[in-house]
Amino acid sequence: MKSILDFHEKKIKKQKFTMVTCYDYTFAKILAESDVDCLLVGDSLANTMLGHQTTLSATVDIMALYTGAVARGAGDKKFIVGDMPFMSYRKGVTASMTAAEVIMRAGAHAVKLEGGEGNYKLVKHMIGSGVPVMGHLGLTPQSVHQLGGFKVQGRDEKAQARIKEEALRLQDAGSFCIVLECVPSHLAEEITAALDIPTIGIGAGPATDGQVLVLQDMLGMNQGFKPKFLKTYYDGFNNLKEAFNTYHQEVIHSEFPTEKESYS
Ligand code: KIV
Ligand code: NA
Repeated sequence: MKSILDFHEKKIKKQKFTMVTCYDYTFAKILAESDVDCLLVGDSLANTMLGHQTTLSATVDIMALYTGAVARGAGDKKFIVGDMPFMSYRKGVTASMTAAEVIMRAGAHAVKLEGGEGNYKLVKHMIGSGVPVMGHLGLTPQSVHQLGGFKVQGRDEKAQARIKEEALRLQDAGSFCIVLECVPSHLAEEITAALDIPTIGIGAGPATDGQVLVLQDMLGMNQGFKPKFLKTYYDGFNNLKEAFNTYHQEVIHSEFPTEKESYS
């Protein structure tokens, strides 16, 4: 996918699509050659790249640094969404627009922000300013302390009605797509059916238009992280560890380097 028009087309044609998070140049180059449809420079980089427990540590400058690396790796081959980090879109229009400006100039083609309530006017203003906005509802990790932990959202009918209402209002405000994170499958299905814009699920069941996974999680690099929604497509942790160990063994047993890897 190259533009928001492709998201629209996927919805109309009822074609599923994929998004994977990406934070660096090297993986962006690999993903650029893959079939994965679009890339998310998620604020989950606070976890995967920087080792924090939550995403609250991500700042606009950090997001811009990683977004630039991904943009240089992906070239013009993939649509890149950059997360607006914690608080960067909650301090008034000017500060929010400056934050979006920095992330777009770093190479994002769209920004993503969490939550509905309090964001609709801003979303409208961003879209009117040429910044496509992706929504993010359900488990919104920037609100982890308000939510009381990383828990499935929309468990009761009232919460379900609220999430659906927020999705509809984000669509009305002009969002081109909405991520639904950790919500019951039936809610994601209902919202997906109610919207004209595509939904992207993570822990939201099979009915969403697209799916997204965190790169390190899907590659099995995040050992011990095994939430119900996650499927790993590679044993990254053990395969990479084995490569490091093979290198180490060959060096200590004088098997590397040989003449082949040496200059005469
Ligand atoms: O930051 C992130 O990785 C995300 C996805 C989980 C949607 O926002
Ligand atoms: Na995020």
